[in-house]
Amino acid sequence: MQSDRSPSNSPDAIPGRAIPRRAVLAGGVAGALLAAAGLPARAEPRGFRLRVAPATAQLVPAPHPATAVWAFNGSVPGPEIRVRQGERLRIAVENALAEATTVHWHGMRVPNAMDGVPDLTQRPIGPGETFVYEFDALDAGTFWYHPHQRGSEQVDRGLSGALIVEEAEPPAVDRDVTWVLDDWRLLADASISPDFDNMHDAAMMGRIGNSVTVNGVVPESFAVRAGERIRLRLINAANARIFGLEFEGHAPRIVAIDGQPVEPHAPAGGRVVLGPAMRADLVIDMTGAPGARFRVIDSFYQRGAYRLLELAYGDVPLRERVPEAELRLPPNPLAEPDVAVAERHSVAFAGGGMAGMMGGGMMGGGMMGRGPMGGMMGGMMGRGMQHAGIWTINGVAATGHVMAPMLTLAEGRSHVLAMTNDSAFHHPIHLHGHSFRVLSRNGVPTRRREWQDTVLMNPRERVDIALVADNPGDWMFHCHILEHQAAGMMGVIRVAPAATKT
Ligand code: C2O
Ligand code: CU
Repeated sequence: MQSDRSPSNSPDAIPGRAIPRRAVLAGGVAGALLAAAGLPARAEPRGFRLRVAPATAQLVPAPHPATAVWAFNGSVPGPEIRVRQGERLRIAVENALAEATTVHWHGMRVPNAMDGVPDLTQRPIGPGETFVYEFDALDAGTFWYHPHQRGSEQVDRGLSGALIVEEAEPPAVDRDVTWVLDDWRLLADASISPDFDNMHDAAMMGRIGNSVTVNGVVPESFAVRAGERIRLRLINAANARIFGLEFEGHAPRIVAIDGQPVEPHAPAGGRVVLGPAMRADLVIDMTGAPGARFRVIDSFYQRGAYRLLELAYGDVPLRERVPEAELRLPPNPLAEPDVAVAERHSVAFAGGGMAGMMGGGMMGGGMMGRGPMGGMMGGMMGRGMQHAGIWTINGVAATGHVMAPMLTLAEGRSHVLAMTNDSAFHHPIHLHGHSFRVLSRNGVPTRRREWQDTVLMNPRERVDIALVADNPGDWMFHCHILEHQAAGMMGVIRVAPAATKT
C-alpha cells in the first residue's frame, strides 16, 4: 500500500525549466516573504495538471467488478502532489465532468482567490473549462485536495488526493508513506449507491459506507521489514466516517496533526482518531519479527470494529534494531495567537435528527470494509434532495456558499472561538485559510495546544480554539461531514482590516 509512484499515478508535471534545489530553497523562503509583501515569488512555479472526469476503479478485488467513479487523472485517489516547502504550485484543473466543479486545497494557507469555494472565491469551473490555481506552499505537512462544489457527491464519487509538502530538510525515515483512507457505500454490483443527500444521512451521522479503501483499494496487507522506520501520513478523505486506528503490537508516535508538527506522543488510548478531512503523521518503528503479521484495526464505532489490513513482515530484516532517536518535525511559520488579548467569539453548532438515536442497525450488521453489501440503504429519499435547515451555526443554516459573514475577525489580531456542540453527534469543524490552536476541551486545557485546521467535536462538547486572523478574505467554516455541510452546517468567517469591521 505504499503510495504509488508509477507514472499513471504521479502528477503530470508540465515540462519546464528544471530548477536546481538550492535555487528552489532560496527562492522558496524569499518567495514566501515576497508573496507576503504582495510581490510575485521569485521561484518558477511547479506545474501540475489535474483532469476531472468519469473513470473506473477496482476498489474491491475481483471477482467483484470495477466501480464507476469520478477521478482526478483517472485514478482514485487522485495523484499525490508532492512539493517542497517554499515552492510555488501552479495547478491547472480541467473539468471533464458534465457538471461544474472546483478544487479546494484543504489545510493550505492559500490566498482567498485560490481557495476553490464556488461562487464565494471563484466562479465554478464549468464543463470543458480549465481553471489555474497558483499558491505558495508556506507550511510543510500533509494536506489534501477535493472539490467544494456539491462535495457530498463529488468527493464521495472519488474526487480527492494527497498534497504533500516536504520539509526543507525532511527527517530521516526509511519510507515516507501516504494512506488515503476512504469509505464507500457500494451496492452488490460494486457500484456506488446513488442515494446521495438523503434525509437519514443528512440528519444523522452522514454518509457512512460499507467498504473502506486505503489508496483506492480494499486492502489485505501492507508489507514492512523488521527494523524499519516509517513515516505514515494518514488522510481521512471519507465524507462521514471517523476512523480510530489501532496498530496491534506497535507503538506509533503522532508527530503531526493536520499537517502541523506536534510534540511527538503516543495516541490517546492507543487509537489514532481521525474525523473526516483530518490528517495525522505517524512515526512507526517496525519492532516485529521477520515473517510476523499484525492487524491494524479501526475500532472507532463500538459495534463496527473491523480489521483494516495487516502489517506483513518480510523474511529479511532491514536492520537489527529500530532507530532510537525520537523524530521531531520543525515548526511551520504560523503566527502565535496571544490568548490574553484575543477577542472572544461564541459559536454554537446545533441540529440533527432523532435526538441522538444512532439509527438502529446502521452500524450493527456487516460493515466490515471487506467488500460491498447489497441494498442496505434502500427506501431512503431520492438523490439530490437538499435538506438545508437540519443543521445550524449560531442559529443560521446555510443554503449555499454565498452568505453574510457569521463573524468578522479583525485582521492581524488574535481571536478565540469558543465553540459549543449543542447536538448529539460528532462534528469535524474546519476553517479555511488558517490553522488554529486547540486550547481546551470542556474547559480543560489541552496538553499540546495542537495546531489543526479541522477539529473533531464530540457530542455536547465545548472546544476553544485560537488563531491570528492573518489571511484576509471570506473563508468557509463548516462541518466536514459533507452531508451536514450540505444540510446547513456551514458559515462564512470574514477576515478584514478592523476599520471595515461590520
Ligand atoms: Cu476540506 Cu471546506 O473543506
Ligand atoms: Cu457535522
